[in-house]
Amino acid sequence: MKLPLLISSALSLSLPRADVGTWSTLAPIPLFPRQEHSTVLLNSSSFAIVGGVIPTETGVNTTALVQLYNIPSNTWTTLAPLPVALNHPNAAAVDGKIYVLGGLAAASDGAWRGTPQSWVYDPKANKWSALEPMPASEARGSAAVGVYNELIFLAGGMSVLEPVAGGKQETVNTVSAFDTELGKWVTLPETAKRMPEARDHAGAAVVDTKLYVLGGRDHGQANVKGSVLAISLGRLDVGWRTVKGVMPTPRGGVASAKLGRKVYTLGGEGNLVEGSKGVFNQVEVYDAAKDTWEVLAPMKVPRHGTSAVAVDGKIFVPGGSVSQGAGPVDVLDVFVPGS
Ligand SMILES: *[C@@H]1O[C@H](CO)[C@@H](O)[C@H](O)[C@H]1NC(C)=O
Ligand SMILES: *[C@@H]1O[C@H](CO)[C@@H](O)[C@H](O)[C@H]1NC(C)=O
Repeated sequence: MKLPLLISSALSLSLPRADVGTWSTLAPIPLFPRQEHSTVLLNSSSFAIVGGVIPTETGVNTTALVQLYNIPSNTWTTLAPLPVALNHPNAAAVDGKIYVLGGLAAASDGAWRGTPQSWVYDPKANKWSALEPMPASEARGSAAVGVYNELIFLAGGMSVLEPVAGGKQETVNTVSAFDTELGKWVTLPETAKRMPEARDHAGAAVVDTKLYVLGGRDHGQANVKGSVLAISLGRLDVGWRTVKGVMPTPRGGVASAKLGRKVYTLGGEGNLVEGSKGVFNQVEVYDAAKDTWEVLAPMKVPRHGTSAVAVDGKIFVPGGSVSQGAGPVDVLDVFVPGS
């Protein structure tokens, strides 16, 4: 007698639930459309977008721009710029300060190369201060970033990105950690300092004590990943493992954000479906407590090359690109997952 119920609940796991979640549009990013920035939640009422690329007449320029969005008033302001222009910065907020721990800088030959330079932003002084740079051999951007107590972890990323068709994309499996209290880079145990696979442009979140690296890609847009790598940050000696739950749609260039014990992955790049412009519209959520995935309402404006923050049951997604590669937009929208 229970069989039909079991079947319907099993089906609902794999079917798109387009009814679940709503998208709304907010005030667009002023000054310039933007992609390949980082988005960090400064406090419960504001988030910042840091660096990235902006359009020019001939392509895109890497920017040092930092802008703050105030959630209650739906308004943007401009903060002190980064000391150098960076795209794919590795950024996190800890204790009301923004940390930028390396990223990619535009070199004179046109390639984007990893820089070890690191800074902290103090909102009270509206000022960036230099930190100990990360070890030069670990310099990279586009890492999966997770905060655990006073530590910021960077997992994977890319050391070089040549922003041309078929250009080099050097994906790494390096893991680094910065201690924000000591102002020093941490030496990680052998079990923790490399992921089992190289990843860049992945989703990331710390749930309870575990860092999850969701999807991403390896050496180029096409080689998308659907698996989730995880490490217990309180037990680094146990090392990395691959969880059972696999992303329904493998994607790189995803935005990700955590609400409760669920990690939302939004959009992405490397879609081979005709008419997609290489961009994914998928919104899929990983339930870390159950180790399962669910498909939610797709993005109204499908994008890659953005990043998201979540607060008070809402996920904010500023900027990104609407086509594979460069195509920055000024869209800010918000997704409310519902239940
Ligand atoms: C892009 O960078 C070039 C070279 O640095 C500069 O001349 C130009 O003004 C920049 N354009 C924009 C829109 O920032
Ligand atoms: C959040 O940070 C912004 C920027 O420093 C500040 O203007 C605002 O007052 C802060 N809000 C809260 C609730 O702390």
